[in-house]
Amino acid sequence: MRGDDRGYLLHSFLASRSNQRADIYGGSVENRCRFPLEILDAILTVWDSDRVGIKICPSDDYNDSTVSYNEQLETYEYYIGELMKRKLMFINLSRRGCHLGRDQDEYFKSAPRPSGLEIPANYEPLHHFGKMIKFEGSPTLLMVNHEYTVSEANDLIRAGKIDLICFGRPFIYNPDLISRIRDDKPFATNDRGGAVNYGPYQDINENYNDWPSFNASTQRVEI
Ligand SMILES: Cc1cc2nc3c(=O)[nH]c(=O)nc-3n(C[C@H](O)[C@H](O)[C@H](O)COP(=O)(O)O)c2cc1C
Repeated sequence: MRGDDRGYLLHSFLASRSNQRADIYGGSVENRCRFPLEILDAILTVWDSDRVGIKICPSDDYNDSTVSYNEQLETYEYYIGELMKRKLMFINLSRRGCHLGRDQDEYFKSAPRPSGLEIPANYEPLHHFGKMIKFEGSPTLLMVNHEYTVSEANDLIRAGKIDLICFGRPFIYNPDLISRIRDDKPFATNDRGGAVNYGPYQDINENYNDWPSFNASTQRVEI
């Protein structure tokens, strides 16, 4: 289930800054979480819980979804607790909005947080919520994403802090991403700007199927 990040519809219910409702879907933590949980429960009437995953991003700031640090902790402690009761296949915890200091492109770059809604410099949702999802006997796998490197991913997996990690944009810029990971080759970075993520393009392949791959024999990237 997607939409619990990036200020999309379900996320906008979770955040008090975007959710101004005065009915049972607004106000308290339980009320703000009600609509996403109802959607999830409707999905679970169709698919078994071990076939359903959800992506969430407590620290996100898209579309007025920025909330205070305290609200993040309070809302997501309750929300993740409710998600865990549903025994989902995985929870994808995104760290968009955190101070990573290495945004890959301007499209995904976070805006400065408004005064009073700052988060601690070293905060990442994984540090606070990871243990709610990843523990011995947990029915739910913990996936993380957003601006990760392979080395960070390996460290987190080896430390037993996560089960899965996903890469998004590097798959666009690296047609051979899997073999680069396997062969310990560096990723190509995006040197074409954030607009490449969604277009528009002149040609169907432009910025999508025209990125060079890494040639093992020459150690060079080739088109
Ligand atoms: C072209 C494009 C399409 C995306 N579509 C989705 C989507 O449908 N669902 C989703 O959860 N995230 C989507 N994302 C966000 C990515 O899943 C991911 O959260 C983001 O790219 C950050 O991870 P990264 O640093 O590994 O790229 C999309 C990203 C891009 C660039």
